[in-house]
Amino acid sequence: MKCRTCGQPAIINLRQHKLALCRTHFLDWLPEQTQRFIHHYRMFTLDDRILVAVSGGKDSLSLWDMLTRLGYHADGLYIGLGVLGDGFDYSAESQRLAEQFAAQRGLKLHVVDVKATYGATIPELAVISHRGQDKPCSVCGLVKRYIMNRTAYEGGYTVLATGHNLDDEAAVLMQNTLTWSGGYLVRQAPVLPASGLGLARKVKPVCRIYERELAAYALASGIEYVYDECPHAVGSNTLWYKDILNQMEEKRPGLKLQYYLSFLQAKDDGLFAAQAAQADELHACEKCGQPTTAPGLCSFCRLWDRVRQSREA
Ligand code: AMP
Ligand code: FES
Ligand code: ZN
Ligand code: ZN
Repeated sequence: MKCRTCGQPAIINLRQHKLALCRTHFLDWLPEQTQRFIHHYRMFTLDDRILVAVSGGKDSLSLWDMLTRLGYHADGLYIGLGVLGDGFDYSAESQRLAEQFAAQRGLKLHVVDVKATYGATIPELAVISHRGQDKPCSVCGLVKRYIMNRTAYEGGYTVLATGHNLDDEAAVLMQNTLTWSGGYLVRQAPVLPASGLGLARKVKPVCRIYERELAAYALASGIEYVYDECPHAVGSNTLWYKDILNQMEEKRPGLKLQYYLSFLQAKDDGLFAAQAAQADELHACEKCGQPTTAPGLCSFCRLWDRVRQSREA
């Protein structure tokens, strides 16, 4: 296999693009692709102040690397969830790698530790709140979304970027199309606009990039990242759908991308127009002021109220 650009030995074969590239040309190609998507979906410009949510994994660190290489002003946000792995501290290790990445490049990283700031780790919260039983992922999603939005808003960032890749997006899409969850489908997009009420603009610049390509990018550019999935994600539906999609992709290279892109096209053509028209009204949470669709308190403040009540009981 030879690099299409220079003829040197290739390090990666992108079957879905019928393209093989050497290390140098792959490290040029991926940021160029990302730039194309940023432009295509009008995500942000060089004038924006971007906050990248980094988990210490390959997707978000590669994204941060590419954004800074492309000349964007991008700071990072790491959220300490307090998750332990099998024989090691998963969150501490993720934080170490995110901090190391930022320090090596002289980039600014905000760190918000959930326990230190609000009083409990994610696994503790899952038990106390009875939300999702012993699976903390739903409570974790809620807490992460809240902290990301709040940090972006309070820090004066104009955009919040996450490292959701094509495999993530296709797996969520499969989950939501199997149940035809129109409300979720209408909100699954490369860009979610800001709202005047304090909801930051959200973008997913690598939503069209395969997970495998982001892993190759991290390896080829020497980015140290946490290899393991979150220990609580093991056995999750998302990983199961990713596995099925990979089996399909193996037989039909490009299928995952086509699935996602035809979904976006169908949405542009108005397939979920009815759900889009029903979007819930936002207002400010009575306690923290963050935007919410729930009446009174937002679900984040409700969650911590429940923690307080159960501790007082
Ligand atoms: P996940 O929900 O774990 O698939 O992660 C999706 C995206 O959310 C990642 O690519 C990051 O941008 C962001 N993210 C996940 N975990 C964290 C974290 N602990 N701190 C900051 N951002 C995170
Ligand atoms: Fe949140 Fe695993 S519980 S990432
Ligand atoms: Zn080459
Ligand atoms: Zn609130």
